[in-house]
Amino acid sequence: MRTTERDIAVKVLIAGGAGFIGSTIASACLDAGIAPVLLDNLTTGRREFTTGRTFYEGDIADGALVDRVFAEHPDIGAVIHCAALIVVPDSVADPLGYYRANVAKSLDFVGHLLRNGCHRLVFSSSASIYRAGDDLTVDEDSPLAPVSPYARTKVVCEGMFADIAAGTRLRVLSLRYFNPVGADPRLRTGLQLPRPSHALGQLILADQDGVPFRITGTDYPTRDGSGIRDYIHVWDLATAHLAALRSFDGLFRDGTTATAINLGTGRGTTVRELLAAYREVTGRPIGAVEAPRRPGDVVGAYTRTDRAHQLLGWRAEFSLTDGIGHALDWAAVRARTLGEDDRG
Ligand SMILES: NC(=O)c1ccc[n+]([C@@H]2O[C@H](COP(=O)([O-])OP(=O)(O)OC[C@H]3O[C@@H](n4cnc5c(N)ncnc54)[C@H](O)[C@@H]3O)[C@@H](O)[C@H]2O)c1
Repeated sequence: MRTTERDIAVKVLIAGGAGFIGSTIASACLDAGIAPVLLDNLTTGRREFTTGRTFYEGDIADGALVDRVFAEHPDIGAVIHCAALIVVPDSVADPLGYYRANVAKSLDFVGHLLRNGCHRLVFSSSASIYRAGDDLTVDEDSPLAPVSPYARTKVVCEGMFADIAAGTRLRVLSLRYFNPVGADPRLRTGLQLPRPSHALGQLILADQDGVPFRITGTDYPTRDGSGIRDYIHVWDLATAHLAALRSFDGLFRDGTTATAINLGTGRGTTVRELLAAYREVTGRPIGAVEAPRRPGDVVGAYTRTDRAHQLLGWRAEFSLTDGIGHALDWAAVRARTLGEDDRG
């Protein structure tokens, strides 16, 4: 099967399309007139996020299934590969499982894609692979220093895809996400987990449970001692993928075969600033206590955004308060949307 540049954004295969980010990308595709085809084994993804969408239940490593997807949708122009296991402590406890799920299966998947004549791959990578400079910013040329097996699977995948691209028609764009927050503003999808472990999730839980929020780590080299992150609204992440599809072929016109772009807002927000923003959005005086760093926590970083703007013509548009507001809106409907009882 051959697709032309004009066709690339007509139909897109989203691996991991029943997960938090993949399902949001699928919604953005639908809103933009691009038909998403979802492939997901539902390990962490939710069937509810596939309702009314073209969906194949199964594994990215299942060659016969991938062949069937392409036989039934020969007009797929590109693949967005979000399928992975993503829990950092789990990757420490089960490195074998993580390398198998994230690396070995991705290798099989790319073989299946190439066999089916599909050579445009957008890969969900992570900002957790960087070592931040003293100013806590990074760009795509910053040194890599992944600190967990999870993050290392991303580095290994990027390198593996680059090697394959150098010797085949495969072209790979790795999008390195910073810290996604929020939900689809139309609340079709959001975080599946009832008790998310990231700072905003912890804030919402503390607020709901009426307990003080724990600021874990107050001795980092930041402006107020708490950790810093680049919180990007998940809808902005999704629209970056639309921009990536539009720009894809142009990125490789000069002979490049694999490249990476950071997706963040360019703004660093400390945990104390996040707490202040949360208080502002809710109007509630959420209490807070200072606590020691948790094992594995890092000071964090935020991105310089020039490359995303230059190459994709994209910038994040939502504010942090939008992200907090949409996360709260989603938290209010999550259990009902997922057919769970409210205690999650
Ligand atoms: N959420 C974050 O904070 C974050 C940050 C940086 C990068 N990422 C990357 O973005 C991608 C999506 O993350 P997410 O937050 O949506 O997680 P998620 O767990 O919600 O989504 C992952 C999806 O992939 C599916 N999946 C996993 N292995 C599969 C396989 N072998 N075959 C088919 N489907 C499979 C899961 O069922 C799930 O629906 C991942 O690659 C992740 O590493 C996420």
